Amino acid sequence: MSQKGMGIAMISEKVLVLNATGKVGKNASLALREAGFDVFGTTRSQVDALRAIGVTPVVCNYTDRKGLEYAIEQTGAKKILAITDYFGAAQSNSAVEIEHGKIAIDVAKEKGVDHFIFVSVVDAEYFNDHVRHIKTKLVIEDYLRQSGVPYSILRPTAFFENFDDPKNWNPLKKGAIKFLSDKHMKYCATYDIGRAAAVMFKHPDKWIGRSLDVIGWEGSLSDVARALETVGGVPVKARLAMPLFLRRLFLKDLHNMFLYFEAGGPQGSPYTFKKVVPDALSAEDWFRFHGSYSNGEKIG
Ligand SMILES: NC(=O)c1ccc[n+]([C@@H]2O[C@H](COP(=O)([O-])OP(=O)(O)OC[C@H]3O[C@@H](n4cnc5c(N)ncnc54)[C@H](OP(=O)(O)O)[C@@H]3O)[C@@H](O)[C@H]2O)c1
Repeated sequence: MSQKGMGIAMISEKVLVLNATGKVGKNASLALREAGFDVFGTTRSQVDALRAIGVTPVVCNYTDRKGLEYAIEQTGAKKILAITDYFGAAQSNSAVEIEHGKIAIDVAKEKGVDHFIFVSVVDAEYFNDHVRHIKTKLVIEDYLRQSGVPYSILRPTAFFENFDDPKNWNPLKKGAIKFLSDKHMKYCATYDIGRAAAVMFKHPDKWIGRSLDVIGWEGSLSDVARALETVGGVPVKARLAMPLFLRRLFLKDLHNMFLYFEAGGPQGSPYTFKKVVPDALSAEDWFRFHGSYSNGEKIG
């Protein structure tokens, strides 16, 4: 059987990850490297963070056409994992995030990329129109489908990484777990986005032109707290990060997103995702994988 047939990457196939230092980019890059790829990641300045996980940094701004052309030319990568970001790089402007996505697709086409994987969002078509940071993904998906670039789409549900997100005022602290919803929800680890991308890059015959929902685990915030208790060995209280009326008043986009999750969405299940990534991380697995609280103290 060939190496490819065995699911092992051909020697050092190159993958370029865009926005490689973010919550998705960093763990997805790690997973791709562990799967045998030669991984390059764009960053404006965080070169040490990428080198520390064995990823070769490419210093450029992934939202800029010239930066992307430079990244592809420098690395010679023909496989791209693309992550756009509404709240960060696009500064909460839908048109700007859509433009970032289109630029990446256009440059990939120009440079003859042979497999472009876009990280979208699960069930993007079913959220209401207030959920702007997800509706943008539909436009980018459509553009990609029409582009002629060989593509796949990964559609992740809510990230476990949201439980330790100091930039968004939610650092993980010993003894407590906080989130904007305490209801039963579906989650995934960003590491599993990378593991799924690795499967797609290794089996283009099966995955080009297809999408996959990334859903690793489901449970309530109390279930998440129990998982942290098990791993950390200390009692954990589950709490809402803010009262629901404040969520509704001040975080309209996210509030409407949570309404969909809380009503039972997304439609997919961990069962289906595990046919592709059989050992997708559960909440307990994720706390072990994540390893430390926000202040650096080890979990457990
Ligand atoms: N959170 C969830 O639960 C969830 C679930 C499903 C899908 N998603 C989707 O995942 C994507 C978010 O990815 P993420 O959380 O990985 O992003 P992220 O962590 O917010 O990305 C942070 C990185 O963005 C780069 N960046 C920030 N401002 C920038 C700018 N002005 N220009 C260029 N780069 C800039 C920085 O990289 P450098 O400083 O290194 O350049 C930074 O390290 C979004 O599209 C979101 O809709 C999120």
